[in-house]
Amino acid sequence: MFPNLTILSHPLIQHKLTKLRDRNTATRDFKALVNEIAMLMAYEATKDLPLEPAPVETPMEPTTGMQVAGKKLALVPILRAGLGMVDGIIQLIPSARVGHIGLYRDHDTLEPVHYYFKIPGDEEDRLFFVLDPMLATGGSAVQAVSALKQVGAGRIRFLCVVAAPAGVQRMLEHHPDVSVFTAALDRELNASGYILPGLGDAGDRLFGTR
Ligand code: PRP
Ligand code: URA
Repeated sequence: MFPNLTILSHPLIQHKLTKLRDRNTATRDFKALVNEIAMLMAYEATKDLPLEPAPVETPMEPTTGMQVAGKKLALVPILRAGLGMVDGIIQLIPSARVGHIGLYRDHDTLEPVHYYFKIPGDEEDRLFFVLDPMLATGGSAVQAVSALKQVGAGRIRFLCVVAAPAGVQRMLEHHPDVSVFTAALDRELNASGYILPGLGDAGDRLFGTR
């Protein structure tokens, strides 16, 4: 449907997503599920990382294994809800650096308001994974990616749990070079910019603020 969009249909991801959507899922379980889904998504979204030979000595003899070339990965959660995806991915990629981009949506205009930006150095050499469970109008994602590009980031992937078609479209119009990974492409947005069927307000459900 969209170039550069990958919908991760692995059965475990889909099973956990259904639990995440459930309005009766408590904060504690919601948090665990977001992390588990993020970890499974990262596994899929890194399957094309280049490898290089690596010498290793087993207890029996020297041999040559393989290791991820470069190793310069950075995770950049969009605050707040993106924070919920970090720990799950870090379990898989402990050497990844973590940056933060602070954005919230203005309730009236639905446009993102920027309040924080701090990312690891060596931007040109890194592969960035921008994290946010929700890609709704796409305003936040587009602004986060633009901010990364402004400081020199060249290789960027965007991982979300639920995306709306309008958000994917906006992202790919502004940043056609960014690969977007999602567990679901939902039907539409409502008048308040919430995804339908979606899972509600991800930040509030993660942090128990409503
Ligand atoms: C939510 C979500 C995204 C954004 C998506 O954050 O986590 O960042 O909305 O909407 P968009 O695609 O229309 O920009 P929110 O603004 O609620 O902030 P929060 O994470 O601090 O709750
Ligand atoms: N942000 C959320 O947390 N949920 C939505 O459905 C849309 C934006």
